[in-house]
This record gives sequence, C-alpha cells and structure tokens, in this order.
Amino acid sequence: MSVTTATSSPTRTLAIDASGLAKSYGDKVVLDGVDLSIPEGTVFSLLGPNGAGKTTTVQILSTLIPADRGTARIAGHDLADDADAIRDVIGVTGQFAAVDGLLNAEENLRLMADLNHLSRAEGRRRADELLARFDLTEAARKPVVTFSGGMRRKLDLAMTLVGNPRVIFLDEPTTGLDPRSRRTMWEMIRGLVDDQGVTIFLTTQYLEEADELADSIAVLDGGRLVAHGTAEELKQRIPGGHIRLQFDSAAQLQGAFHLFPAAGRDDEALTLQIPSDGSIATLRAVLDVLDGNRVQARSLTVHTPDLDDVFLTLTAGAGSVPTPDVPKENDR
Ligand SMILES: Nc1ncnc2c1ncn2[C@@H]1O[C@H](COP(=O)(O)OP(=O)(O)O)[C@@H](O)[C@H]1O
Ligand SMILES: [Mg+2]
Repeated sequence: MSVTTATSSPTRTLAIDASGLAKSYGDKVVLDGVDLSIPEGTVFSLLGPNGAGKTTTVQILSTLIPADRGTARIAGHDLADDADAIRDVIGVTGQFAAVDGLLNAEENLRLMADLNHLSRAEGRRRADELLARFDLTEAARKPVVTFSGGMRRKLDLAMTLVGNPRVIFLDEPTTGLDPRSRRTMWEMIRGLVDDQGVTIFLTTQYLEEADELADSIAVLDGGRLVAHGTAEELKQRIPGGHIRLQFDSAAQLQGAFHLFPAAGRDDEALTLQIPSDGSIATLRAVLDVLDGNRVQARSLTVHTPDLDDVFLTLTAGAGSVPTPDVPKENDR
C-alpha cells in the first residue's frame, strides 16, 4: 500500500504537501517528522488522542507558529516564504471558538466580513447567506452567549467561511457536542466539500468522525504518524473480522462445520464464525461453498473491525501491531 490514498491520482493538485514537520518545546518533542500529502477537494482527518500533536500540526500549517524543521506547501504556497498568501486562502476554526459572545450572530459575521475587507453590502449579503445556510437565521439577533454549544460551533464554522477559504482547518470541530449536533456538523462539513470543492483538514479524537467524513486518515500518536490510509484500509489491517452464520438446527450447523473446520463454533447459539478480511470476494466464496453443498443458513452477518479496534491496536505501543506502511525516512 502506498501513502497516497485511493482518492488521489498523480495528476491531482495537492492542497497540503508537508514533509518532515518537527516541533519541540524545550525538551519535549511534540512533532517528530510528520509527512502529509492531501489532494485538493478531499477531507483529510488527523486522528489522535489528547496530546498527540494535532493542534500543533494545525498551528504550523495555518502559519500560526513556525516549525523547527520540515517544509510545507499549502495551496501551492510555500509555508516558509509565503505565509501571507497562505493566510488569504485558508480558514481555521478552533477547538475554542473565536466567536464573541457579547455580539449577536449577525454582528459576528459582519465583523468577519470587515476583517476580510468585504464591502458593507457584500458583507451583509454574505452574512445573510451563511446564517441561512447554517440554519441560524432565526437566532441571528440573539446574543451568542445564549447559544447552545452546537449553535456556537455552527457560527464558528460560518465565520470561517466568510472569507471563502479553499483550505479549511477544523480542529476538533465536534468535541463536546451532543450526538445530534455532531451529526449536523458532519452534514455541514460534507456539504462544503461536495458543493464547493474545498479541502478540509480535520482533527479529531473520534474514530467514528474520521470514518464518517474522511477520504483519508492519518493516525497521530506521540508526534508521529503511526498509520495512514482510508478507513477501509485501516480496518483491514486489524485482525478479528469474521463472517457469522446463524443456523436453524444442530444438523445444519454440523453440516456447515464440516465445510469450514477452521471456524469457531457455538452449539448453543447455533452459530459459526468464519475468520474473514471482510472483503466481498471472501463473502462470495463462503456463500458459494454453502450453496454448492446445499447447506442452508438462516442469516449471515459480516463483522469488520471498526476504527476503534484499529486505533487501539495502532496506539497500543510497538510490538502488538504489524508494522504500518508508513515511510520511515524520518526515523532516526
Ligand atoms: N506552547 C506549548 N508549550 C509547551 N508544550 C506545548 C505547547 N503546545 C503544546 N504543547 C504540548 O505538546 C503536546 C501536543 O499538544 P497538542 O498539539 O495540543 O496536542 P493535541 O491537539 O493532539 O491534543 C502536548 O503534550 C502539549 O502539552
Ligand atoms: Mg488539540
């Protein structure tokens, strides 16, 4: 497997192309050689536990702090030489919203429009459009202090969009939100990519979120990338997937067990668990064997390991994991 993901092709422009990013604070190494290549118009998720270095990566790529080592190009502009040009094309929403609680939603958006040098008329139009898009029109005149967490995050995202960024950094956009607000945010983020072709750099601690949104995922742990791929690719690395067959009778179970002697068998539940990589080809092979031998099963379920399994395995420490396909040129 290569580090380039299925959604990319060699001709596709990279929105973010970073190599060997490193950062330390005193003795503490926070980032230890991070490489990223993120094609335009895709959602990339940097997944990692608290303290992994996610926010630091965002701060470096969005020009807020300098890296100690490494290079990066954002939307074609060099991070070291052309920070101003990068600031013009990116948007950043923080884990801690930039929203001013004393202003109302509309005022916050117009303030952003001013900061982005939009004319008054244009600023007003943009604010109204964003309020409508994020379903905040009714709440537009209410002070933001009265907003729920979900509304604040929506407004924060809306404010990021005022300047029409091409690359948007979302640092843990749904941390602390209830499941419903989280889902709403996911829909908005998806909509941005589908409608406007922006590139999203999303950090998250939630495997489910990366699975839901990201075209490609990199797992960051202790300042190093420990895995990189699509959600499917990451899941396939982890053993434990199986096909579970449910039977109506002990005779059927016995018949099937003859065909799959390596399967795990539960005589009480009348089930058979056949180890599987979760691929269609394996599933088809199992069904063909059953059919060919006229063994009937009542139902079949496929269990693919979820990203939580992946995450635990990958961050559990060296030794327990098959070596991930990550380039090692930054190792020393
Ligand atoms: N300004 C700073 N000074 C010292 N240590 C820092 C600073 N910023 C971040 N760190 C440390 O770097 C590590 C990674 O932080 P961060 O990038 O915020 O991780 P994440 O966003 O993944 O939770 C943490 O251990 C944090 O304490
Ligand atoms: Mg953080």
